[in-house]
Amino acid sequence: MWLPQFTEQNQPLYLLIADAIERDIAAGRLLPGERLPTLKELAAALQVTPGTVGRGYDEAGRRGLLVGEVGRGTFVARRAEPSAVDAPSMASGQIDLSIIKPNDSGVADWLPGALAELAHGTELSRVLDYSADGGHVAHKQAGAAWVGQRLPGAAWQQIVLTSGAQHGLMVAIGSLTQHDDLILCEELCYPGIISLAHGLGRRLKGVRIDAHGMLPESLRELCAAHRPKLLICVASHHNPCNSIMPSERRAEIAAIAREFELFIVDDDIYGFLEADNAHAPLAAFAPERSIYLTSLSKSILPALRIGYLHAPQAMLSRFASMVRSSVWMPSPLMAQLASELIDSGQGRELAARQRQEAALRQQMARDILGIYELRGQANGYHVWLELPQPWSSDEFAYLARANGVSLVSGSQFLAERSGTTRGVRIALMAPSRDELRLALTKLAGLLAAPEPRLFY
Ligand SMILES: Cc1ncc(COP(=O)(O)O)c(C=O)c1O
Repeated sequence: MWLPQFTEQNQPLYLLIADAIERDIAAGRLLPGERLPTLKELAAALQVTPGTVGRGYDEAGRRGLLVGEVGRGTFVARRAEPSAVDAPSMASGQIDLSIIKPNDSGVADWLPGALAELAHGTELSRVLDYSADGGHVAHKQAGAAWVGQRLPGAAWQQIVLTSGAQHGLMVAIGSLTQHDDLILCEELCYPGIISLAHGLGRRLKGVRIDAHGMLPESLRELCAAHRPKLLICVASHHNPCNSIMPSERRAEIAAIAREFELFIVDDDIYGFLEADNAHAPLAAFAPERSIYLTSLSKSILPALRIGYLHAPQAMLSRFASMVRSSVWMPSPLMAQLASELIDSGQGRELAARQRQEAALRQQMARDILGIYELRGQANGYHVWLELPQPWSSDEFAYLARANGVSLVSGSQFLAERSGTTRGVRIALMAPSRDELRLALTKLAGLLAAPEPRLFY
């Protein structure tokens, strides 16, 4: 049975009991979930009244050290699990520069109030049920307002809700192509596109890219030679290369798509990062054949799983039916939360905060790795590093990991296995600023070392 050790005597006994509990928890002598002696047991052992022990337990409870369960006894509190928004960026001892996600700042302030409002709001009963095709009108209207920041005039009648942009990609591919059809995307692309294409039995070819994104001449060549069905393009803050396609090139790409009767999936999930909305999305250049995709995953919170697909009205029923086939509907509860975020203006504020945080981190990356071939953008969530000789991207990613930093080797982004790359993607937003500085400094150290090798 646990017995308190008293180190001093000049305090009321109940406080000494609480102090002893605190000390023993800190020292690991009392473990989370461990049952403490009953009041009677401990009172007998200490030769005091059960009331004194009870006051000691109450005091420890007030300090958050104990929890009582009626009829079961008193237990050492389990350590608070980190909340979802504080998810550790150093799981498995690694500083995580592998995932592109918004920073936690801001969301933690907003979320509890928003959830409470949703739970007590007048809309609750409406969003507990199945929703009609493509989502509730109010949710589509909020979606149109969000999309409208990038695509002015976006109409709610042209919106279909999705469970995030990955689902939007699946809905577009599933609706517009068939087994064995050819899809084009950037030669280095978001791996979610590669896995979807393979999973759905579509062929994928990479259009050559330069520092400004997809090359029109390469697209034209592939269209002429292979007659693809669909083009997927990430024109703003490209993942992984962080290029931004200039407007003239967007117009050229749109013209080629029109010439070859190609549908365009304009994945604009990072468009909100564009400083001053500098470039209109690709969809604005060919609205009649573009499926515009975005989601709140990068601007607000990945766990919302709410995305918006905007497309010509004639195509919408196909998309709505693919949403139904795949997930029935994105959760209306989450869509309501997203709508309140958008309608209240809070969403814009949170996204603006993310841009500010990203700008600061981009500067940090430039300060530490700027002597290398680094591609970032003013508010970008990630940078692309072209490695100097003698590195290969897999080798660098491997060695970085061995040094406690996880990032993604460029080879993971190759649309075709035959492709090559010397780059790595470094995502900047997941860790704390201090962790990020430490990780980037470690990477700089690795790059500076002559002929680095890991050996056993
Ligand atoms: C280019 C691109 N599209 C889509 C997605 C998927 O986003 P979501 O979380 O909204 O499904 C990502 C996620 O990293 C991405 O980088």
